[in-house]
Amino acid sequence: MRIFIVSALLVACLANIPLEQYQTGESCEKSAKFNITSVTIDPFPPGNSDQYTVVMTGTFLSKETVEQIYIGQRKNKEKWHYTYQTINKEYPKGTTETYTISLQAPAIKGPYTDQITLHKSDFTTLSCWQYNYVI
Ligand SMILES: *[C@@H]1O[C@H](CO)[C@@H](O)[C@H](O)[C@H]1NC(C)=O
Repeated sequence: MRIFIVSALLVACLANIPLEQYQTGESCEKSAKFNITSVTIDPFPPGNSDQYTVVMTGTFLSKETVEQIYIGQRKNKEKWHYTYQTINKEYPKGTTETYTISLQAPAIKGPYTDQITLHKSDFTTLSCWQYNYVI
């Protein structure tokens, strides 16, 4: 009985650690001026047609103006489809910002890739975050 309890606790601990540290996706911009430190996608993976949110926190490594956030999505290796949100905000160097982006998951089955990018007015990329999921 004692062995059972100990191993049950151990399993609970092991299961907890990766959950807390879990990051969904990866950076797709090597020289990002907006250094992303955490991304939470809820629910992940999203289900067919689900509303889901991406909460993305990072720090500006230089003074920058964010013109838009683009959300690119593609199924398999097909064409990218883009939507965007206008931000038009200037950030002093060292500012930490959190963006909350509400999205709707596709209704067609398949493997998907999303890329979320921050852009300046000249369309230069300040950061890029990418994640995959299957609907
Ligand atoms: C970006 O953030 C990570 C995680 O907080 C940190 O380790 C890294 O040093 C930062 N990069 C720069 C260029 O500040």
